[in-house]
Amino acid sequence: MEKVITRSKIKDLLKMQPGIEVTAKGWVRTKRGNKNVGFIALNDGSTINNIQVVCDMASFDDEMMKRITTGACLCVTGDLVESVGSGQAVEIQAKDITIYGTADPNTYPLQKKGHTLEFLRSIAHLRPRTNTFGAVLRIRHAMAFAIHKFFNDKGFVYLHTPLITASDCEGAGAMFQVTTLDLNNPPRNENGSIDYTQDFFGRMTSLTVSGQLEGELGAMALGQIYTFGPTFRAENSNTPRHLAEFWMIEPEMAFYEIEENMDLAEEFIKYCVKYALDNCMDDLRFLNDMFDKELIERLQGVINTEFKRITYTEGIDILLKSGKNFEYPVSWGVDLQSEHERYLVEEYFKRPVIVTDYPKDIKAFYMKQNDDGKTVRGMDVLFPKIGEIIGGSQREEDLDKLNRRIAELGMDTRNLEWYIDTRRFGTAPHSGFGLGFERLLLFVTGMANIRDVIPFPRTPKNADF
Ligand code: 4AD
Ligand code: MG
Repeated sequence: MEKVITRSKIKDLLKMQPGIEVTAKGWVRTKRGNKNVGFIALNDGSTINNIQVVCDMASFDDEMMKRITTGACLCVTGDLVESVGSGQAVEIQAKDITIYGTADPNTYPLQKKGHTLEFLRSIAHLRPRTNTFGAVLRIRHAMAFAIHKFFNDKGFVYLHTPLITASDCEGAGAMFQVTTLDLNNPPRNENGSIDYTQDFFGRMTSLTVSGQLEGELGAMALGQIYTFGPTFRAENSNTPRHLAEFWMIEPEMAFYEIEENMDLAEEFIKYCVKYALDNCMDDLRFLNDMFDKELIERLQGVINTEFKRITYTEGIDILLKSGKNFEYPVSWGVDLQSEHERYLVEEYFKRPVIVTDYPKDIKAFYMKQNDDGKTVRGMDVLFPKIGEIIGGSQREEDLDKLNRRIAELGMDTRNLEWYIDTRRFGTAPHSGFGLGFERLLLFVTGMANIRDVIPFPRTPKNADF
């Protein structure tokens, strides 16, 4: 009978005891050697580490060996032996090699090492094969898993909210429209406007900017829910912190006031960061060495630091007294810009900061109004190097106050009656927040550009891959 050898993942192989026959499958990172012996560094994505494959050149066909170049995909069977070279405990002494696919060195874009991140963005379909993106994408997965574990362990229900919606949660008007109408010849009303009753959903619809409004419905029935899905914003901000398509985690909790909301946000971020330190050390060490020598120290710092909590008004006072010449001038009522947030976090408090009680005019309609008539119970969590990582609030649960605010803002309630029903029937104090998943990943990986922490970034003028 034929001997069946199952493939082992390189992550597991590197921890095995030598003295057994093994099979590894993966892509060639480098190949070097001389006419007697060849060394192939093989990687299969299970770990940042490669396994070294040693080939006695006399046992292999010359022509075949020449076709093995960086990027080629191989199946290697051989003996797992103790490695004489430094850097790894074991290596494979190859007995049999099958080439699944070659990669022409003249045209394979990752033939050489040391490409810039900018260049790698232009080959987003291949960049997962680099050490950097392998590390980032494994950490991204680990963070997604940690997020589900955190909420599941606390008894939150994962609620799937729709991606296609007829309401603008944040009221910022930065929505991508969804339509099946013929854009060259849409049906028109008598007054010339487009007749959306003939559109697919019989009304104007868009991609959601947030699952919060539906999340609140869930919290008013299930107590504690969270969403975790893609969100879409058509803001034309070409910054290292904005994507047109990003992932957001939005917990929503019945009976939580803003203080408990802040406690949960702080515990949540610390849990994720600790999970990365406990489970992704190989990848973090690589990113620490290659990009950001203070990364691991900063991550450890955050889990041991109490976040500073201040009101917006206190924050404005600090900024006014800073003596700094900000690009965007500071006065009570302005929205905090990234430069202001980073001053508070990086220079003034030197720790993450939670800012609460913002002017109502710069925040969304649903936030709970304070008695001063000027501010709302909103909260933003600000992080070093990033600025805002979480936005949230206690929600206005009072039907009259909510209705008055909606009227003040001139919002169309036709698409919101279902939301207002939560305040009509069994309303309750409740709170929630949204964590930008890629902003969290910027912090955890130390990458500087949000385009480098999502496999296929969508930004203005870019949906190429
Ligand atoms: O502050 P935002 O707009 O809040 C909301 O959407 C609320 N509905 C959340 C809630 O209370 N349930 O967005 C929340 C977070 C921001 O703090 C930021 O981390 C991230 O989402 N975010 C973006 N991330 C990447 N690209 C963009 N264009 C982003 N806009 C917001
Ligand atoms: Mg915000």
